[in-house]
Amino acid sequence: MIVTIAHTKGGVGKSTLAWHIIFMFIMLGKRVKVIDLDFQQTTYFLNQIRVSSGLDGLEVEQPQDIEELISLLEDYDEDIVIVDIGGFDNDMNRTAISYADKILVPISNSVTEVLGFKTFEAILEDITTQKLDYPFVNVVLNNIHPLTKNFDVITEAIGNNPQMKLLKSIIRNRKVYKDTLGVGKSVLDTNDTPAIEDIKRLCDELTSH
Ligand SMILES: Nc1ncnc2c1ncn2[C@@H]1O[C@H](COP(=O)(O)OP(=O)(O)OP(=O)(O)O)[C@@H](O)[C@H]1O
Ligand SMILES: [Mg+2]
Repeated sequence: MIVTIAHTKGGVGKSTLAWHIIFMFIMLGKRVKVIDLDFQQTTYFLNQIRVSSGLDGLEVEQPQDIEELISLLEDYDEDIVIVDIGGFDNDMNRTAISYADKILVPISNSVTEVLGFKTFEAILEDITTQKLDYPFVNVVLNNIHPLTKNFDVITEAIGNNPQMKLLKSIIRNRKVYKDTLGVGKSVLDTNDTPAIEDIKRLCDELTSH
């Protein structure tokens, strides 16, 4: 299964979620291939920090052209491929989106987020020629204030598009998601049970049909 974490808007949490779900899937016994398509090389650098602090690192693929990307996406042995793409629109990112079995789109709960999402939705419609019989655009609420309970603005934006769904998992704003990144760790290297459970729920939801 290829999961491409995508949104043309920057800073929505693509790399943060990619990082934590990679380690959760590994912990759950999945073999994971990691592809970093962002020129900021966030996942690549987080992994460098991890390795230099003595922890077990990942093998992060950084294909240099579309041909190399396609060969990675067409021929993999792992259970799950996680692709972290940058917050912009280019051919490499479009390729990773068109090959995805599931697209994971982090979004937070505000009107400006909805406007940004509309732009991205138009790009998705432009790219996706696949006619899958399940919602392959999986929107996840991320960076949500712990007390927020009303998500009407997002629910309305997603509407009744049969290929899009709002996941039940909600990733709250938690310092631990951010602080662990800085030292090359994931939530699994902490004792923060609520944060670990949120990430686990997201992984379970992504792998269930
Ligand atoms: N749930 C969360 N709780 C706390 N901080 C978060 C959460 N999600 C993201 N952040 C923080 O928000 C910032 C932006 O996140 P991140 O770099 O993952 O976004 P991105 O979508 O990958 O951005 P880009 O488009 O630039 O690649 C980071 O500092 C990250 O740690
Ligand atoms: Mg990123």
